[in-house]
Amino acid sequence: MLDIQKIRAEFPILSQKVNGKPLVYFDNGATSQKPQLVIDAEVKYYQEINANIHRGVHTLSQLATDAYEVSRGKVQQHINAKFAHEVLFTSGTTFGINLVTNGFASILKPGDEVIVSSLEHHSNIVPWQMLCEKTGATLKVIPMNEDGELMMEAFDALLSEKTKVVTVNHISNALGIINPVKDIIAKAHAVGAAVLIDGAQAVPHLKPDVQDLDCDFYAFSGHKMCGPTGTGILYGKEEWLNKLPPYQGGGEMIKEVTFEKTTYADLPHKFEAGTPNIAGGIVLGTAIDYLNSVGFENIQQYENELLEYATKRLLEIEGLRIYGTGKNKASVVSFNIDGIHPYDIGSIIDKLGIAVRTGHHCAQPIMTFFCIPGTIRASFSFYNTKEEIDQMVDAVKKAQTMLS
Ligand code: ALA
Repeated sequence: MLDIQKIRAEFPILSQKVNGKPLVYFDNGATSQKPQLVIDAEVKYYQEINANIHRGVHTLSQLATDAYEVSRGKVQQHINAKFAHEVLFTSGTTFGINLVTNGFASILKPGDEVIVSSLEHHSNIVPWQMLCEKTGATLKVIPMNEDGELMMEAFDALLSEKTKVVTVNHISNALGIINPVKDIIAKAHAVGAAVLIDGAQAVPHLKPDVQDLDCDFYAFSGHKMCGPTGTGILYGKEEWLNKLPPYQGGGEMIKEVTFEKTTYADLPHKFEAGTPNIAGGIVLGTAIDYLNSVGFENIQQYENELLEYATKRLLEIEGLRIYGTGKNKASVVSFNIDGIHPYDIGSIIDKLGIAVRTGHHCAQPIMTFFCIPGTIRASFSFYNTKEEIDQMVDAVKKAQTMLS
């Protein structure tokens, strides 16, 4: 059992008032809030060990390098990667996906196929479209049903020896649907395709085991899991990371440079050109430690309670429709009210202190599927409460009355 009041006290921002009302923060899908210990770790880095890494022989540089590599090791353990060098620090999920699509530009040929799902965020659609344009490969899409679930029979029919890459999110950002990624990975591997999982929305809710999943790449961001913005991880299987060319050229990613020829550094440095977000990388490790101390089983159990409660309470509102009614869901509720634009509800409830995301959530194809301009998305974290859900429901009812 989680002591939610104790947990809330660890997040200074949660005791704030916004527009004169106590903040109810339900935009965790966009970014999570940060506990004091994460904020302190960032300050401590700059106060005590700030120096560039992997470069100097001086003490501070070694301390910073050690802390950065310790953090890589924490991530490795957290996601159960076989080797620390399979864990690349990035600036976020988008960077990780683009690193992979850039690499596949030298592998794909006309006639090859890339399969994405209809539930993807734009960041897991557009880079693949750009890759297909560059290489002459064809983009195929796994369709979804009215509940927002991927249609697995249709996926089976799309797979063939032409399929070179399959990519899908672990959890949909717009609807909260949890995809059957293990099954998808096994099926893709059966035709020889590589698989990238976009884990951006999954890592705040669960602990991915990349060896058990057997994915080839798993990309996620630090800021959605209580870590700093501008941090992220791309996990890649050693054999794939060795096969792909570097994404960016620069310092640190080389073995030897002459004007005639440059040779590249070993993993992971081959993919880590330039001075990285050192503080962010170190503090991401602190955030992961923090989440593990709360415990992912506890997080999941409590967030499921919040999801059930919010779903039940919101459905009391006349004319309210929830999108993403599939069985397997994370703590995200996307909804609309008949005849009212989501933006209008979002703006009114913001005045009442309630932060939700409104719009297409960078997932326009999902909105097109449902023939809507967008939704109101409430995404819950383990520091939210049922009382806050009650406040949101009251605020939405008020907005409905004002706008009807
Ligand atoms: N991808 C983030 C979201 O879903 C920003 O809100």
